[in-house]
Amino acid sequence: MTKTILRALAGETLPTPPIWMMRQAGRYLPEYRATRAEAGDFLSLCYNPDLATEVTLQPIRRYGFDAAILFADILLLPQALGAELWFVTGEGPRLSTIRSQADFDKLGRGKMIHDTLAPVYQTVANLSKALPDETTLIGFAGAPWTVATYMIAGRGTPDQGPAHALKAENRPLFEAIIDRLTEATVDYLSEQVKAGAEVVKLFDSWAGSLEGDDFDRYCTRPAQIITTELKSRFPGLPVIAFPRQAGDKYIGFHAATGADCVAIDDSVTPEWAADHVQPGGCVQGNLASRHMVTGGQDLVDETRRVVKAFSGGPHIFNLGHGITPDADPENVQLMIDTVRGKA
Ligand code: CP3
Repeated sequence: MTKTILRALAGETLPTPPIWMMRQAGRYLPEYRATRAEAGDFLSLCYNPDLATEVTLQPIRRYGFDAAILFADILLLPQALGAELWFVTGEGPRLSTIRSQADFDKLGRGKMIHDTLAPVYQTVANLSKALPDETTLIGFAGAPWTVATYMIAGRGTPDQGPAHALKAENRPLFEAIIDRLTEATVDYLSEQVKAGAEVVKLFDSWAGSLEGDDFDRYCTRPAQIITTELKSRFPGLPVIAFPRQAGDKYIGFHAATGADCVAIDDSVTPEWAADHVQPGGCVQGNLASRHMVTGGQDLVDETRRVVKAFSGGPHIFNLGHGITPDADPENVQLMIDTVRGKA
């Protein structure tokens, strides 16, 4: 096994951490903007295997990242279950809402999701052929709670208010949504693995707003069920979990879910995460995305700090969250050169 990402995920401490970046295929790259314009809109890009393959490969060609992440979106799964989905330019996603039992009853289940998602599996298959031998292919899905927050609100929300409200008002319905998403996520990720994904990542971007028992029930437990089921279908499949802004709840998350790697956001320091989370297994993170906008000596210093803090155990270098459209591509190169000791 020579791929560095797979070695880190297997628990090896490497002299130089492997590196990739959340949202590495995105609007900060002129070549992405050109392909996106060719596709017309974001969803057409996601569902066009040739163009989705092309944008996934762009940051690999430009920077030689150690992993490629499938180009798609966490909201394709609710769409495949029957929700309406569209993107408003400059604002973000919009979905038909699930607030009542009648709304929920309209959702599908089982193998029907694969009709909509087939082009995504084709993208994975294309990538699995096209990527350089040393590059790991990561598939992904949103975690049930995060996807549910969009399905219930019909859009992104700063505090996930509508999802918390439904949980308080109609817990059985809320739990039925989580369970349906948990089941569908296993099927979705299984098809990605069959098509060639070597690792899967579960994005729980809004995990930080779940408190107390709710965190265990709606973040940890679904991640544990999905991880266990995938590993039973695909023995040895590495899983990365990202319970963003979990804070103290990052502690023990590897053991509680069975994930091989826990991705860390930048609301905690790398030294804290090295002391409290990395003993549980590989960690991924956690440079603040803003350095990709601001650059300079601060970027170099903070990149070195992250590398040093995690140098005593398995680590995959990444940002604490996705790179933003206003980032400078030169700063990404500076970060990579710094991690690889060339700056
Ligand atoms: O990381 C990657 O490069 C892989 C592709 C990927 C995208 N979205 C592409 C994308 C992944 C892994 C995601 C995950 C995703 N999508 C999450 C979880 C991770 C996170 O960022 O917290 C969430 C919450 C979404 C939902 C989503 N998709 C939102 C809220 C938005 C709009 C916000 C924005 O940045 O405009 C998107 C759109 C989106 N997904 C873009 C990309 C490259 C920008 C779309 C464009 O080209 O206009």
